Amino acid sequence: MQVNEIKKLFLETFGGEDENLRVFASPGRVNLIGEHVDYCGGPVFPAALTMKTTIVARKRDDDIIRLKATDLDIVVEAKIDELEKYKGQLKWGDYQLGVALELKNAGYKIVGCDLLYDDTTPHGGGLSSSAAIEISTALMFATFSNEENGITTPVDMIEMAKLGQAAEHSYIGVNCGIMDQFASAMGKKDHAIYLDCATLDYELVPLTLGDYCLILSNTNKKHSLGASKYNERRMECEAGLNAFKTVMPKIKQLADISPEEFEANKGVLTDPVVLKRIKHIVYECDRVKRSVDALKSGDLATFGQLMNASHDSLQYDYEVSCDELDILAHEARKLPYVIGSRMTGAGFGGCTVSVVKKENANDFINTLAPIYQEKSGLTASFYISEIGDGGMEIK
Ligand code: GLA
Repeated sequence: MQVNEIKKLFLETFGGEDENLRVFASPGRVNLIGEHVDYCGGPVFPAALTMKTTIVARKRDDDIIRLKATDLDIVVEAKIDELEKYKGQLKWGDYQLGVALELKNAGYKIVGCDLLYDDTTPHGGGLSSSAAIEISTALMFATFSNEENGITTPVDMIEMAKLGQAAEHSYIGVNCGIMDQFASAMGKKDHAIYLDCATLDYELVPLTLGDYCLILSNTNKKHSLGASKYNERRMECEAGLNAFKTVMPKIKQLADISPEEFEANKGVLTDPVVLKRIKHIVYECDRVKRSVDALKSGDLATFGQLMNASHDSLQYDYEVSCDELDILAHEARKLPYVIGSRMTGAGFGGCTVSVVKKENANDFINTLAPIYQEKSGLTASFYISEIGDGGMEIK
């Protein structure tokens, strides 16, 4: 929806005049490479999308938060001093209230407000619609808090990313890494973020793809199994790290292990499943570094090969892909104008990202759509992805 339409709907829902309305937005993300390594201290390479969450907000003069979404009929009402109470009880709205609670616990003054949310990032599509909600919400509450407290310095977006991640852990129960919230908070138009998840050092790398573009192909398979499997992978990584520490006591995280060190010491992993998981982490971290070098030197072919290798590793070793993602990634690769294709995000559904020659973008969609339909029984959606800015207030 356009901002004016959201504002109109806001006034229809909550009444009043439009002079005190504020607008905040924060995007979803695509991860180019570096999957399931953020929580192992690895490097990742995401970019913010132009698909986003937009909030139209208005302060209230009591301690009540009212929430609505443009595509839902319900209005959720919550009291600021009872935020813990709603956890796990709501049909919708836990990301927002979880973030409010994290900010409150971090010392922000949460102001009562009426909020209307509009999302253009597809839900369950692996493009971090949840981080988009978290970061737009965090920015909005922090901005209001600063105004109450007479603080004029800009909101610290990296802190917002950390608080958004904390809300996901404590309120939603997904033990996610920092990548999605960081990309949503810190993205920059036409740039990807080369982020070291151990230190949060980052570099904005211009995403110059020349004659090529990024196409996101959505399996439209919701990743419902995702949360439990995600937490299971984290535990497997923990087990692998503990085993490796017995032979490499100096390492702090799996990302500290080089491929050579892995090969020399992998005998310490006696569980074959854990062995596969750690192999993915070690080689994926290496692929990210090589991808960034390749892209910086304009070597798209190498980048494409690394994307394909990343998908295969997620499919066979980390086992977070699914038939639908595999069909899209492998069928895409058969097309002569595709440089690379892989699943993006947590997996078990969601999207692939493919590097496709611009002039063949329509062929790509027209070729893949019927093949996917026939092989999976589902209808895919396609988006030619544009890289946008991170969270901001829209004035
Ligand atoms: C989800 C999580 C991220 C990251 C990816 C996989 O999107 O939120 O932290 O772990 O999965 O790379």
